[in-house]
Amino acid sequence: MALRTLSGVQSSGRLHLGNYYGAIREFVRMQHEGDALYFIANYHALTSVKDPLQARQLTFETALAYLALGLDPNKATLFRQSDIPEVTELYWILGSVVPMSNLERAHSYRDKIENRGITNPEFGLFAYPVLMAADILLYDSDVVPVGRDQKQHLEFTRDVAERFNHQMGETFVLPEARIDEQVMIVPGTDGEKMSKSRNNLVRIFAPEKELKQEVMGIVTDSAPLEAPKDPETNNVYRLFKLVAPAEAAADMAAKFRAGGYGYGHAKKELLAALLDGFRSERTDYDRLMNDKAELERQLHIGAEKARNVAGVTLKRVRERAGYGPKA
Ligand code: ADP
Ligand code: TRP
Repeated sequence: MALRTLSGVQSSGRLHLGNYYGAIREFVRMQHEGDALYFIANYHALTSVKDPLQARQLTFETALAYLALGLDPNKATLFRQSDIPEVTELYWILGSVVPMSNLERAHSYRDKIENRGITNPEFGLFAYPVLMAADILLYDSDVVPVGRDQKQHLEFTRDVAERFNHQMGETFVLPEARIDEQVMIVPGTDGEKMSKSRNNLVRIFAPEKELKQEVMGIVTDSAPLEAPKDPETNNVYRLFKLVAPAEAAADMAAKFRAGGYGYGHAKKELLAALLDGFRSERTDYDRLMNDKAELERQLHIGAEKARNVAGVTLKRVRERAGYGPKA
């Protein structure tokens, strides 16, 4: 059987360089191999987006971004998580085999309660990794391309699958994470991990004026213009290296080391590299924005295909667990 790839991005904010270099670039590459499914994790976004208008808009924009960045609905199955009710059913079943203590150890949950000031977290935030495991296991996924920060969630998913297989008999495929080891964690404008939940984004599809503000807002040290600087420790260069061709990056590194080259210069070059590097994607995004009906049609087709796969798995799971007709 063809290798099945699956992944998703939460529609909790606008797409940024971390999402692209950490994950979506790999989605695009992998759609040419085997059978690929990519979805918009809009139910996961509900843990942070509570405004319905915004939830709808961000789901739409994330779908647009997928297409503009090169996901092709003729190659990969593109769909919205919320269009597949099977996923929430599997989520309950998996929730019944996961020990609470495993969820209590999850980095993403701990980070939110220990460092982000969330004092009364919703159950959904706690249970987030169970829904993610359901997303992955529902489609018998073999490979899951994700950024490094998702590694623990994949380990958790394998653990859940193993527990279920052990208790109820072989049911789930054990998925493998695919992490681009070259990329590491893409830094945000404050030097911390670029993330929708922090105010530190460089957004791929921001209008030019806003993109400029984001780039100009990158935090740097106060070394004087004349001073030689280590490119590897500054955020402007670290982003430039991802976006610009290798030669241009080597050139910028040399200018930093030589001195007489300031962060302001580098930011201008970074902005130009972003506008240049993502020119056709930005144009496509604006074009697709005006054809909502076509996007909706593609998502509808994707949901039908995804539900066919989901239905087969869920039937197997129910039967193993002692529900529904015996297969
Ligand atoms: P965010 O962290 O902004 O909320 P998501 O959690 O929806 O983004 O992540 C979607 C994908 O993008 C995941 O595979 C994640 O690992 C990857 N990703 C997000 N931020 C980064 C980053 N700063 N560096 C590398 N990969 C990232
Ligand atoms: N939790 C992932 C993130 O924040 C998004 C996600 C939800 C996902 N379900 C998934 C990624 C299943 C891969 C597979 O990035």
